Amino acid sequence: MSIVNFYRPEEQVPLEMHKVRVVQKLFLLPVEERLQKMKEAGNNTFLLQNKDVFMDMITDSGVNAMSDNQVAAMSIADDSYAGSETCNRLISAIEEVFGTKYFLPAHQGRACENILAETFVKPGQFTLMNFHFTTTKAHITRVGGSVIELVGKKGLEPQNDEPFKGNFDIPRLKQTIKDLGAKNVAFVRIEAGTNLIGGQPVSLQNMLEVAKICKENGILSILDASLLQDNLYFMKTREEMCKDMSIKDIMHKLGATMDIIYFSARKLGFARGGAIISNNESYILKMKEYIPLYEGFLTYGGMEVRSMEAMAVGLRETLDMEIISQGPKFIQYLVDELDKYGVPMIKPAGGLGAHVNAGEILPHVPHSQYPAAALATAFYIASGVRGMERGTLSEQRNPDGTEHYAELELVRLAVPRRVFTLSQIKYCADRVKWVYDNRNLIGGLRWEDEPSVLRFFFGRLQPIGDWQEKLVEKFRKDFGDSL
Ligand code: F0G
Repeated sequence: MSIVNFYRPEEQVPLEMHKVRVVQKLFLLPVEERLQKMKEAGNNTFLLQNKDVFMDMITDSGVNAMSDNQVAAMSIADDSYAGSETCNRLISAIEEVFGTKYFLPAHQGRACENILAETFVKPGQFTLMNFHFTTTKAHITRVGGSVIELVGKKGLEPQNDEPFKGNFDIPRLKQTIKDLGAKNVAFVRIEAGTNLIGGQPVSLQNMLEVAKICKENGILSILDASLLQDNLYFMKTREEMCKDMSIKDIMHKLGATMDIIYFSARKLGFARGGAIISNNESYILKMKEYIPLYEGFLTYGGMEVRSMEAMAVGLRETLDMEIISQGPKFIQYLVDELDKYGVPMIKPAGGLGAHVNAGEILPHVPHSQYPAAALATAFYIASGVRGMERGTLSEQRNPDGTEHYAELELVRLAVPRRVFTLSQIKYCADRVKWVYDNRNLIGGLRWEDEPSVLRFFFGRLQPIGDWQEKLVEKFRKDFGDSL
């Protein structure tokens, strides 16, 4: 990767290695209107309208800026139902990038998870993973399986200097397989760029070790590569083993080692859609019939052909360190700024976005009053920036109806790639600082309407007391007429 140094070291900031050619106007509503919009959205940032959002940092899924080459490729899409040239081009791109032969299309990552769960998980079986993801767990539990998390202890500590906090605890993995018996383990799933613990990477060495243990025990190894892009950057920059490997070498190694790889192309490839890939035809044949049943014909699997063209180009662009370094560098900058202000963050900075430690900021708000969700509402009110709750609200209740308290109560500020400029990132950091300085004003939330599945998407909540009004009053006092 090329290095660009600034002459004045104090000016050292991440430098965009692209220019902006299409823009979208943003609107920043006055604070009183932001409070009103938050109320109308049931205190759930998922229910805000994007027109009322200044910086949308809820996710990096399907909202990354595409390259000129991706947009150009979309115009040559072949939308024939069968034998589509677009599908052939996507298969070639996947083969080039991962070195894998077989491919099944799906409309997005969770659709791949549905098919994997349906095919490989029997009632009563266990799936082992470094950490769960919301949609993954929902599909596994829906078919009667359960999830055991085996991330290393350091992965759950908010701050330390462990470079690969997403790594499996290998001795615990071995012991768990022994205790459960290999036949009761449906598969081991390795999540690259471990989402719910702060976008933390997994080392190549750890991934390979896990796959080896799977092989020795006759258990299927599955890589969720949705967040692999940032993870590749961390492998290249933090891991001795990867120093002399190209990005393509690393991806081919994974393609050759894992039994199955799947990904959301809303993240990997900066497009939309999803894919399940493998070098082993027998696994693919087991899943194949579900594609026309749930997704669409085998040439598109529910994807829009133009997205498939964008995905093919985006996957090839993933091999370029200059492109894939942009996300982690901007995230690092945001985390460093907040760290300077003393805001408790997940550290080291990972991929996906910056993760603010709501649990530590709001010790006076118990898990049962959803501190991370409360902080996300406070942050929108203060800034117009929309983050996402990643804490107890994002968990499923236990079968007996009691709450499953999250290990970490986080507000995620996702950094969609190439979307925000440095001054916008600075604005975001500045408003987080204000919220942090006024944290004592922030209270909890309670349910108004709680859905039974994936409740964080649609659930509606209410503030406990009038703390949001008090926050608005304080904002006016500190910011005067400012938006
Ligand atoms: N796996 C991981 C690690 C993910 O982060 C996601 C999505 C999925 C699977 C599911 O993919 O959305 O295409 O169905 N993460 C998004 C997020 C939703 O905002 O973090 P999908």
